[in-house]
Amino acid sequence: MPRDDHDRRASRSDPATAERWLETANLRWCDVNSRRRLQSVFRRFDAESEHEMNWPSGEAALVTGAASGIGLGVARALVAAGAAVALTDVDGERLDAVARELTENGGNVVALRFDASDTLGWESLADRAEAALGPISIVCSIAGVNGGTTADGTPAEVWQWVFRVNTESQFAAAATFIPRFKARGGRAHLLNTSSISGFIPLPGVAAYTASKFACTGLTMALREELKDTEIGVSLLIPGAVATRINYSAGEAEARLLGREMNVELAAANSELLMKGADPDRVGEQVIEAMAANEMYIVTHREWGDRIAGVFDEVVRAYRDFDGRHGPDPVAQAMLAGIDAIHT
Ligand SMILES: NC(=O)c1ccc[n+]([C@@H]2O[C@H](COP(=O)([O-])OP(=O)(O)OC[C@H]3O[C@@H](n4cnc5c(N)ncnc54)[C@H](O)[C@@H]3O)[C@@H](O)[C@H]2O)c1
Repeated sequence: MPRDDHDRRASRSDPATAERWLETANLRWCDVNSRRRLQSVFRRFDAESEHEMNWPSGEAALVTGAASGIGLGVARALVAAGAAVALTDVDGERLDAVARELTENGGNVVALRFDASDTLGWESLADRAEAALGPISIVCSIAGVNGGTTADGTPAEVWQWVFRVNTESQFAAAATFIPRFKARGGRAHLLNTSSISGFIPLPGVAAYTASKFACTGLTMALREELKDTEIGVSLLIPGAVATRINYSAGEAEARLLGREMNVELAAANSELLMKGADPDRVGEQVIEAMAANEMYIVTHREWGDRIAGVFDEVVRAYRDFDGRHGPDPVAQAMLAGIDAIHT
């Protein structure tokens, strides 16, 4: 805790210095009861700001994809920050090993094997997690697979699987937990995971790119929809992070297609990836950014200019357009602050 924050808090809750504060604030006229009431307000304010400053300590979180890579890094960082964590992943064996590690490190965790793409199973997952840890207030959707290749080389079942795991799981997580967060009130947070591919079309991964653009869109929509609530929304946009994604997703895709996994391809695609960011450091960054309620969590600076290039091309198309259809009534209404879409 920063020193001056500590001092400020100490001075509010300590009766003698609170008394001095009352004098400084020219409230000497306060009677004893008013003084007591004010001191109790200070104390409550102190407890709230202490809780806010220590967030996510004392919270309960749910993490998908917690058995490996970035999800594991986030789970470790949540435990280190004092949160209880429901660890979920489709890989039960790795998940149990992670649960053992975190429990041995003093963490309060529960391992719940779950396929995040099972959209109908989310309510029961939420019930199980909350039965074990109490109300969940942080949901980190991190599970993802980079299956498929070019659009015309991707079998339809791979396309659908990639969308189910990467995108529909994030919709199901949000749709399950937002009503619970709203019913309980108080601070809550949703983290979704996109990718550089959710802003820049990388060649040779059409399904992944499309699904991650959808994650970006879903998360931007969630932020708009939740802007007047205490529910924070963040979007993790990893660049290269040193994880085993090419192997875990490669194995799963091969299983789906009833084939042997192409180990050489996974190794070739992992070569540069393994020089990327450390997933545990990314996990710590994610907690820091969620605590500060940051929307976009990025891992490598140089992608910014590439993303600007993508948007610049679109903006240029608008600037160069001759406007032949006249003004757009929906755009005009929105610019005038009128709700153009009725729900
Ligand atoms: N590693 C990178 O460079 C990178 C870059 C951009 C985005 N990402 C994204 O980060 C997220 C995490 O990936 P990672 O690199 O840590 O990979 P990883 O393979 O190390 O971890 C992903 C975890 O998700 C789990 N998983 C896969 N399908 C699942 C399902 N249906 N239900 C539940 N769990 C499932 C896997 O078993 C694995 O434990 C993914 O969404 C990925 O798209 C990663």
